[in-house]
Amino acid sequence: MASTETSPHAARYPAGAQAFPHRDLIGIGQLERHEILFLLDEAEQWVTLNRQPTKHNDLLAGLTVINAFFENSTRTLLSFEIAGKRLGADVVNMHAATSSVKKGETLIDTAITLNAMRADAIVIRHGSSGATQLIADKVDCPVLNAGDGQHEHPTQGLLDALALRHALRERGEAGDDFTGLVIVICGDILHSRVARSNLLCLQALGATVRLCAPPALMPTGIEAMGAEVYHDFDAALDGADVAMMLRLQTERMSGQFIPSAREYHHLYGLTKQRLANAKPDALVMHPGPMNRGVEIDSEVADLIDRSIITRQVEMGVAIRMAALDVLTRRGRGVEGWGAVT
Ligand code: NCD
Repeated sequence: MASTETSPHAARYPAGAQAFPHRDLIGIGQLERHEILFLLDEAEQWVTLNRQPTKHNDLLAGLTVINAFFENSTRTLLSFEIAGKRLGADVVNMHAATSSVKKGETLIDTAITLNAMRADAIVIRHGSSGATQLIADKVDCPVLNAGDGQHEHPTQGLLDALALRHALRERGEAGDDFTGLVIVICGDILHSRVARSNLLCLQALGATVRLCAPPALMPTGIEAMGAEVYHDFDAALDGADVAMMLRLQTERMSGQFIPSAREYHHLYGLTKQRLANAKPDALVMHPGPMNRGVEIDSEVADLIDRSIITRQVEMGVAIRMAALDVLTRRGRGVEGWGAVT
């Protein structure tokens, strides 16, 4: 059975439930550095399992996980579903498009309904910032945020950190701590929960984060979160270790934020030529879905040894397995995992 002893760095966390004293996973903002490292370390065993021909563990057998997605998703929904199934849970997906939400049911009534079905964990994606917390306040089981509006997408931040750590370790670098790394996050920062969760996660692990966007797509006052703000992408990339690209979230935009996709690509698209401003071995990341030819060129997205975009997807399953395991420990009565403090 998974326990804190399975973590390679167990010595640096408090024991048992104190290693992760939260019932829910709503945002990276609620986590301490050692709690982030705990989840990353817990995920390592699942990276290993997922690389085996038979990928199964019955840790969550008999438990019901509900994925309630009020917004479209490919990677996140599939990976939460695969994560739950690989751990032996019964996984049920609720798509808002075909649910009673379309019949006018309120979010709170939906939450009460899910709760009455006695789920052991509920994974929520919703278009409104704060919706996940609202549901968490109404239910009795752990709630995992799979993206709420422009607020947070914590498992994305964690999986990106895990993908980066793996890539660095493969290069023989320590990879455990990101101190000294310069990471550029470029794109539609204003509408991006991924940018927010990554900023918090990467900074907690020691990295310097540069945010780059046209002025209209940069949240005002974001410097207060410790980010370095750039509007010139070439300058932002200068000497960078990682370029993380984000999509233009047009479905969240009301009105015109950029002159045209072509113009945007000219100034903010990651081309091979532009990547040359970064360190010679700089890594390329993207949470997906990618708009090739807009924020990133295909020849960069597919660069062997530099692009870790598919590895991010791989790590997503492992991180979600770790999150489901850790958050259900109290409910499963795992020794040392008492009540939330
Ligand atoms: C992101 C999201 O939904 O926030 N995608 C993801 O989860 N991998 C980013 C996006 O939609 O652009």
